[in-house]
Amino acid sequence: METKSMCLLVLSVLFVMVSIVDADTSPVLVKKIKGKRVCDQGWECKGWSEYCCNLTISQYFDYYQFENLFSKRNTPVAHAVGFWDFKSFITASAIYQPLGFGTTGNKTTQMLEVAAFLAHVGSQTSCGYGVATGGPTAWGLCYNKEMSPMQDYCDDNYKYTYPCAPGAVYFGRGALPVFWNYNYGYIGDCIKADLLHHPEYLEQNATLAFQAAIFQWITPLKKGLPSAHDCMVGSFKPTKNDTLSNRVPGFGCTMNILYGERTCGKGDIDDMNTIITHYLYYLDLMGLGREYAGSHEVLTCAEQKPFNPSTTKDSDSS
Ligand SMILES: *[C@@H]1O[C@H](CO)[C@@H](O)[C@H](O)[C@H]1NC(C)=O
Ligand SMILES: *[C@@H]1O[C@H](CO)[C@@H](O)[C@H](O)[C@H]1NC(C)=O
Ligand SMILES: *[C@@H]1O[C@H](CO)[C@@H](O)[C@H](O)[C@H]1NC(C)=O
Ligand SMILES: *[C@@H]1O[C@H](CO)[C@@H](O)[C@H](O)[C@H]1NC(C)=O
Repeated sequence: METKSMCLLVLSVLFVMVSIVDADTSPVLVKKIKGKRVCDQGWECKGWSEYCCNLTISQYFDYYQFENLFSKRNTPVAHAVGFWDFKSFITASAIYQPLGFGTTGNKTTQMLEVAAFLAHVGSQTSCGYGVATGGPTAWGLCYNKEMSPMQDYCDDNYKYTYPCAPGAVYFGRGALPVFWNYNYGYIGDCIKADLLHHPEYLEQNATLAFQAAIFQWITPLKKGLPSAHDCMVGSFKPTKNDTLSNRVPGFGCTMNILYGERTCGKGDIDDMNTIITHYLYYLDLMGLGREYAGSHEVLTCAEQKPFNPSTTKDSDSS
């Protein structure tokens, strides 16, 4: 009995020491710019932003939770063993936390956004089907690239803006997989990585892969449309047209932004339900609980019209 309580004592002393060290390495520096309170929290949230006055992602989401969410990614049958880790996610997020990624609103809103983002990542990189060990939602981050591409995803319509590089193929790669030369070109320009000439960077560098994914998450598809980030943090204010099209803020809205008519407005299809299942599972694992997902209307996009319908809808054969 004596030894046991000693152990507990030692453990709790260690724990206190660690948290003091943590607090010391990232003190919150605060100042006022034009009457607005802005902060800097060291490398994870830098640059005098109002968002950096809030918790940073690693203060409410840590290493072991990442391990729980993506628990099967390093099993021998997975396809990107050793590639994805917590550190690359946090390192990439540090670029976007000063802009509000995972740092907007109260802790609940922050956690909901990170769960939603990771649910997309998990469902888009999963190799868990039906009766996979641990269930189909335990296999996120199993892939970092498309395994058997049927084409090279080179669209010649962009030959002046994002011409395909000799030898390069633009199949799906990354955490929110990027396809096509124009997407590699555009995203690469924005995150300052030459992805048009080196699409393979996204399967070689996990930090860059997460960076490209968070970039897609916080960037509107076009002017006037919300981003997936806006859908989750309350900055999407539906217009009359949105309301008529059943587009409301929430997780369903993020699917509408990221996948449009592929996933939304088609009723309760499997593709959509798989993504939702990941989200609910992650909410549970993060300790928030799936009841925070909100009503059915907010959670799904089954009845939503796409924000950005494709113009070639009636000429699929072309
Ligand atoms: C957090 O913010 C959301 C959205 O603004 C709000 O609905 C919720 O009640 C807040 N939660 C707490 C604990 O303050
Ligand atoms: C920071 O957190 C507070 C409450 O937790 C929230 O009300 C506020 O909106 C957040 N700041 C930003 C810039 O989102
Ligand atoms: C991976 O990408 C990150 C983010 O762009 C970059 O800082 C880092 O140097 C890259 N790592 C390697 C090994 O190229
Ligand atoms: C309203 O939505 C329809 C279809 O969803 C679209 O064609 C139209 O351009 C939208 N109008 C405005 C003003 O955004």
